[in-house]
Amino acid sequence: MQCHFTVYRFDPAADEKPHYQEYEIAAEPTDKILDCLNKIRWEQDPTLAFRSSCAHGICGSDALMINGRTELACQKLVRDFKSGNNFVIEPLPLFDVVKDLIVDLEPFFEKYRQVQPYLKPGKNTSGKEFIQEAENQEFIEPALRCILCASCTAGCPINRANPDYLGPAALLRAFRYIFDSRDSTTEHRLEKIDADDGVWGCKTMWWCTEVCPKEIPITKCLGQIKRAVMQKKKGG
Ligand code: SF4
Ligand code: FES
Repeated sequence: MQCHFTVYRFDPAADEKPHYQEYEIAAEPTDKILDCLNKIRWEQDPTLAFRSSCAHGICGSDALMINGRTELACQKLVRDFKSGNNFVIEPLPLFDVVKDLIVDLEPFFEKYRQVQPYLKPGKNTSGKEFIQEAENQEFIEPALRCILCASCTAGCPINRANPDYLGPAALLRAFRYIFDSRDSTTEHRLEKIDADDGVWGCKTMWWCTEVCPKEIPITKCLGQIKRAVMQKKKGG
């Protein structure tokens, strides 16, 4: 089938303002949108810039706006869209455009680093490994599926209004360590996150959960953090 792509183009080093460019390609209904973008770049326009790596929904590098919704280009097929054979491709909102569909994710990773995204176990004097119960692993498992694609943060209306808000992805990573039984700094993590720009920045709007390509119940996880913060304040 013939597909029509309308693609956002902007090179801040050369262009005064963004514009949209039209491309026609032949595609199969089972082709990924990433396949289509590759086809455009390989066969028609080598100047089109976008990120991708694994092509299998693992690396998180090809999050884009496809027909107005945040998606992974490698996880969506041509046949998945009701728009038939018309596609509008734009970069993630919220972040500055580096070129075309590539955005600067440094502010996203800066927030991520703020939550100290690594396990901080206590001193181990047993000489054995830290054991984690299966139930505990199951509880934090949704957060382990995060591939840091930034779709949730880009789609969050609170993040758009308040650039200082940590955002759903960073808070989800905090959830992963707050509730990991092997981490020894839960109290400190909860204290740090107990702020308007921290977990209370979340107004339970569910947009993050709606757009997450890994179907992580982000809003629910953030709710667990809020409950833990309140319990800590009550001395529970
Ligand atoms: Fe992407 Fe989901 Fe992780 Fe957010 S929580 S960064 S949407 S995988
Ligand atoms: Fe890795 Fe799509 S290219 S998630």
